[in-house]
Amino acid sequence: MIGEPLLSVDRLTTVFDTARGPVSAVDDVSFEVRAGETLGLVGESGSGKSVTALSLMRLVQPPGRIAAGRMIFKQRDLLTLTEREMQKVRGAEIALIFQEPMTALNPVFRVGDQIGETLIVHGRATRREARARAIELLRAVRITDPESRVDDYPHQLSGGMRQRVLIAMALACQPSLVIADEPTTALDVTIQAEILDLLREMKAALNLSLLLITHDLGVIAETADRVAVMYAGRIVETGPVREIFRNPRHPYTRGLLGSMPGGRPGQRLRAIEGSVPLLDDLPPGCAFNPRCPDRFAPCTTAPPPDFPAGASQTAKCYLHDPASHQAPSATHAAPGTSHLAPRTSHPAPRTAEPAPRTSRLAPRTPEPAPRTAEPAPRTSHPAPRTPEPAPRTR
Ligand SMILES: Nc1ncnc2c1ncn2[C@@H]1O[C@H](COP(=O)(O)OP(=O)(O)OP(=O)(O)O)[C@@H](O)[C@H]1O
Ligand code: SF4
Ligand SMILES: [Mg+2]
Repeated sequence: MIGEPLLSVDRLTTVFDTARGPVSAVDDVSFEVRAGETLGLVGESGSGKSVTALSLMRLVQPPGRIAAGRMIFKQRDLLTLTEREMQKVRGAEIALIFQEPMTALNPVFRVGDQIGETLIVHGRATRREARARAIELLRAVRITDPESRVDDYPHQLSGGMRQRVLIAMALACQPSLVIADEPTTALDVTIQAEILDLLREMKAALNLSLLLITHDLGVIAETADRVAVMYAGRIVETGPVREIFRNPRHPYTRGLLGSMPGGRPGQRLRAIEGSVPLLDDLPPGCAFNPRCPDRFAPCTTAPPPDFPAGASQTAKCYLHDPASHQAPSATHAAPGTSHLAPRTSHPAPRTAEPAPRTSRLAPRTPEPAPRTAEPAPRTSHPAPRTPEPAPRTR
């Protein structure tokens, strides 16, 4: 059951110090992960998802540093802990599953020893017990023949099995929060489905909270309870997954949804025009404004704060500013069919491919409900997926 906040991140800012000064890769980010829920963190490449994850674990390396914010986990601000205290949190209370299993596992140690080491370091098993526990954990993540696989080196395992080993390591100490950073990106689609199923099962069995980082909205639709959408280091929209898929409130979220392969025959794939801005050269005002089909006068004045949008969403977008007479009605228009102020005051676009605002993303003529009205089934992935995942190894 979903409960109280387990982790509350408040105005987290992580910068990289460069010759031109500090550049914010995570900029004033606030969100919470509640007990027992899966929060999906989604955004394009470079939007700051992994730096957010590393910040939560306090693993950001120079020239990066956490410049501001609070990260309250179980009533303690992780930023005030000593490194020694933080080591007790890492792995034992918060575990991180990395994007790339081959780099996350040490190639020169047997996988059983690597799982065992996690248990020993956190005092969860003696050396004598560690091997038996590692075998149990490999069995729990559905690795066949765990008694023999426990002695394998990472290169002897398939990509999917390596990801299972990483999940076993993450779950070894029964943490309350697992951060999974693109846990399926490196895998083919059938294995992706199996790993997502495994994560869901483990989460339910162990009553975990999960922060699931991905660029794949299909994964979010299937797995998450709530979603936070990230763009250029900021969280631009939050809300329950169902609401966000049904009625995305931020033009960037609409763009992401619109760029998902739809699966309807003949349906044109739409892409978000332009590209993610460089963090050290953000446009004035809303960082999305050079790509935004709904841009209007206030958008270049200052970065928008969070505005409530609908019953349970927030959006960093002036479309939802009640002070603006252009504020949209409760049921938002179809993507890009903004009934807002004329866009005559557009600034010069900053992207290489500017915006003739005949956006492929968001046609300006009214159109029927967006095809993303419901969470997209996993069958909408680029590579075809069968409705029923391939036979499991259970
Ligand atoms: N070591 C570093 N030095 C300087 N800047 C960095 C470093 N690591 C990350 N950044 C900056 O932080 C930004 C966010 O990076 P991050 O890895 O968090 O993106 P991401 O959303 O996880 O992308 P992806 O989907 O590709 O994994 C990058 O655009 C980059 O500019
Ligand atoms: S604030 Fe303006 S530019 Fe930014 S997303 Fe909203 S409408 Fe678009
Ligand atoms: Mg990343």
